[in-house]
Amino acid sequence: MLKSHACGELGTEHIGREVVLAGWVHRRRDHGGLIFIDLRDHDGIVQVVFHPQEGPEAFRVADAARSEYVLQVRGTVARRPAGTENPNLPTGEVEVRATGARVLNAARTPPFYVDDDSDVEELLRLKYRYLDLRRPRMHRNIVVRHRLAKAIRDFLTERGFLEIETPILTVPTPEGARDFLVPSRIHAGRFYALPQSPQQYKQILMVAGFERYFQIARCFRDEDLRADRQPEFTQLDLEWSFAEEDDILSLIEELMVSLARCFRPDVKFPSPFPRLTYEESMERYGTDKPDLRYGLELHTFSDILAGTQFGVFRQVLAEGGEVRGLCLPGGAEASRRQIDEMTEVVKHLGAKGLVSFALMGEGGLDSLAEDDVRSPVARYFSVEEVRHMALRAGARRGDLLLLVADRPKVANRALDGLRRYLARRLGLADPKTFSFCFVVDFPLLEWDEEDGRWYSVNHPFTAPKAEDLPLLDSDPGRVRARAYDLVCNGWELGGGSIRIHDRELQERVFRLLGLGPEEARASFGHMLEAFEFGAPPHGGIALGFDRVVALFCDEDDIREVMAFPKTKSATEPMTGAPGPVTDEQLRELHLRIREE
Ligand code: AMO
Ligand code: AMP
Repeated sequence: MLKSHACGELGTEHIGREVVLAGWVHRRRDHGGLIFIDLRDHDGIVQVVFHPQEGPEAFRVADAARSEYVLQVRGTVARRPAGTENPNLPTGEVEVRATGARVLNAARTPPFYVDDDSDVEELLRLKYRYLDLRRPRMHRNIVVRHRLAKAIRDFLTERGFLEIETPILTVPTPEGARDFLVPSRIHAGRFYALPQSPQQYKQILMVAGFERYFQIARCFRDEDLRADRQPEFTQLDLEWSFAEEDDILSLIEELMVSLARCFRPDVKFPSPFPRLTYEESMERYGTDKPDLRYGLELHTFSDILAGTQFGVFRQVLAEGGEVRGLCLPGGAEASRRQIDEMTEVVKHLGAKGLVSFALMGEGGLDSLAEDDVRSPVARYFSVEEVRHMALRAGARRGDLLLLVADRPKVANRALDGLRRYLARRLGLADPKTFSFCFVVDFPLLEWDEEDGRWYSVNHPFTAPKAEDLPLLDSDPGRVRARAYDLVCNGWELGGGSIRIHDRELQERVFRLLGLGPEEARASFGHMLEAFEFGAPPHGGIALGFDRVVALFCDEDDIREVMAFPKTKSATEPMTGAPGPVTDEQLRELHLRIREE
């Protein structure tokens, strides 16, 4: 080894010891006669002092060294002189007095400072990811990622789960995104699909008698990217035979609690995790992934406004829409500009506008008078209507009511966005809380206006609730699924379901999805066949592992916890992927690029 100790491990217990260190020049300060180098390696940073008399050779090396040079340093650990300790550095009570040093490798001037404070443009960070990853925060994130994966493996292994790998070159799986395809050289005109998830394989593993499967599995989805979405990501995927909803939710709750206790003892979380039905979540928060760290709950005012004089609302209600809204406590004094910003937020999400009512004055709502209601459209609303809405929303004088009228889907999306925006602007979400919850009883199917057909909300193997089976033919939109999501702080961390294990029911669901027996056999024949050989009742879930890591690392973009992520346009600036291929390769794959 070229080193005896790690930079980051040195402390007062090492005082007086001779050590050999190796690492990168994190920062170099020339104080006239003395040179200080913060030497960084995988484990941390320690200050090295180069004195021209104590180590003349070493001093010359330090004099010539620049940022990111790789050095080997020999020296003695000493207590820092009183008053020069650095409480922000774990090694901050000591320093190493260099007696010898050599350059193991020089470095070009890096395109950005390798420290946590520099705000570097994304493309540059990804092009020089190896430098970006040297930054202490990124380094820590990748370490935490590894530790979380190990803790998950230990936890599930202890409970009898077996990690089994499933293929990457496979056939399409129906998770609802676009597939990445890989052309076959051997079979002209045929393609493998990269798995959107191991869904089919894990169910087949249940048929194969492995009752408890898990995998930290790579998944691929060609979809529009966002802060919480990458084309290539990792799931903690699991499947469990003879298990029911409660078994799976309890297991996941126990897992998250044990991870939180171990990795984030500083955070609070609810116990037990609350469960909301999908319907309740949509009604109260306008989304199936609510952030429960703050209130600002949504309310429906349509009935109160049934006879409204306001033309816009009257028309929306006549067309079957709703008037929904929320109360911003203490918001009555919001400025014109602030309300304009809120209006922009909802318009950006598809709403046509935002109506506000500021409740001014003193006293209870009983004495609310016309003059106390401040709104650009006040003249269309009676005091009675406003009082009624205020009562429903739990508003008081000094508060602001914010209303959107639209189709429920649009109103919900807009108000969910407004709620998140207000919470961000007002700092309502406590960063030291993990507000885990389960959302349950999702609808099984979703009607697509454009395509004029039903789609699975989850995937086609999700079981309907037994009590809703009679609705499958009469009112498919009302059938609830045995599906659940794990949600935390407004993020969908995971989702799963109890599966259909009965071939007849599976075929019925396929039919509803417009898949006839032939098409079903063509796409999922292998599964249907497997299910004829004694498929056990089973269910499972998949957690977005990148999202879990991001949550634990306090990051709001999953790219901060992935070693080599893609840009928002799905490129990888370091390697240049996706790259061109030669005509020869195309020929071998039986492909031709069409001139557009
Ligand atoms: P689902 O499609 O809900 O379910 O995915 C499970 C979880 O994976 C994460 N996730 C993603 N993370 C990063 N980038 C993406 N593009 C991305 N897409 C999804 C989310 C999500 O909750 N086979 C089913 C699970 C099951 O039924 O057992 C499935 O894949 O956190
Ligand atoms: P307009 O009549 O378009 O000038 O709108 C009057 C007010 O109603 C403005 O404050 C708009 O932002 C608001 N508004 C218009 N349409 C809607 C809607 N569908 N829901 C909520 N507010 C709306």
